[in-house]
Amino acid sequence: MLILGIESSCDETAASVVCDGRKMLSNEISTQIPVHTLYGGVVPEIASRKHIERISQVVDKALSDSGCTLDDIDAIGVTYGPGLVGPLLVGVSFAKSMAYAAKKPLVGVHHIEGHISANYIEYEDLKPPFLCLVVSGGHTHLVRVKDYGEYEILGRTVDDAAGEAFDKVARAIGLGYPGGPKIEKISHEGNPDAIAFPQGKVSDHPYDFSFSGLKSSVLNYLNEQKMKDNEINRADVAASFQKSVVLSLVERAEMALDEFGGDTFAIAGGVSSNGTFRSAMEKMCKRKGVRFAAPRPILCTDNGAMIASAAYFDYMKGIRSGLDLNAVPNLKLGER
Ligand code: KG4
Ligand code: ZN
Repeated sequence: MLILGIESSCDETAASVVCDGRKMLSNEISTQIPVHTLYGGVVPEIASRKHIERISQVVDKALSDSGCTLDDIDAIGVTYGPGLVGPLLVGVSFAKSMAYAAKKPLVGVHHIEGHISANYIEYEDLKPPFLCLVVSGGHTHLVRVKDYGEYEILGRTVDDAAGEAFDKVARAIGLGYPGGPKIEKISHEGNPDAIAFPQGKVSDHPYDFSFSGLKSSVLNYLNEQKMKDNEINRADVAASFQKSVVLSLVERAEMALDEFGGDTFAIAGGVSSNGTFRSAMEKMCKRKGVRFAAPRPILCTDNGAMIASAAYFDYMKGIRSGLDLNAVPNLKLGER
């Protein structure tokens, strides 16, 4: 079963062909990061325009790299939410037109379900149930994956997503967009114990995350140092901030393992390419005696392969979308 997956929910135009939900035959990603860097973040209107400019070529390249023609494809999967409405609409309209013209079934995919499914590509033998932390620029979800396409959300961020916090702190210390990789890089030169930044807690909701307090305390620290005319060590700030985020993620992951058990813990989403986060999770999983799963970095960031994989498992369950499929910017996980 060959699925063409299309992703355009934010600032990556991406397409991929995946066989049986596991074997990636191509993975074409056209990133808009250099354009948005000029503005310090994603500008939705520019993102939509760039998706329109690129989508045709990206899909063509994904097909040709895979050695397939559109004729060989069994179904088309596309992200229809959550995300930015304009960018989502480009992918959805393109996929609908293709499905109509080529008479192929269409499957609308939830973006987070896609991120989780990247693990099915990385590990051919990985099967639900397992626990998963989805950490990206827009989401921080602690999820129980009960079966393919069946999720229970144990906790989520009540304010900023983890990636968003990375991006905002990076901007505050003058590192630019996107912040995650830049904070990670500079933190190698810093001391993670230099500044004691707090870890956000949400009372009565132990699995929920909060990162806005941490962000404010970084901003307060920067202001204080400025007022005292002290020089700011950006590497120390980055390393200490990163440590606080990683601790709060790993702590909840461990709590979930204690309560719900299971033999596997997976991570997904853009922040999962962070080396400090990956190794802290790996260490915790080793200590708990459970398998740790993490997609390679190119599958952590937004891509079409994860969408094709999720679409495959949905397709096998009989899920199909009509030509009335629309972009749903705030689509909830598990909703259709
Ligand atoms: O999953 P993704 O590509 O897009 C969304 O669905 O949001 O995630 C992008 C986010 C950005 O906030 C970016 O700063 C963060 O992932 N990110 C990282 C790293 N690489 C990307 N955060 C921390 N460390 C990294 N190495
Ligand atoms: Zn994403």
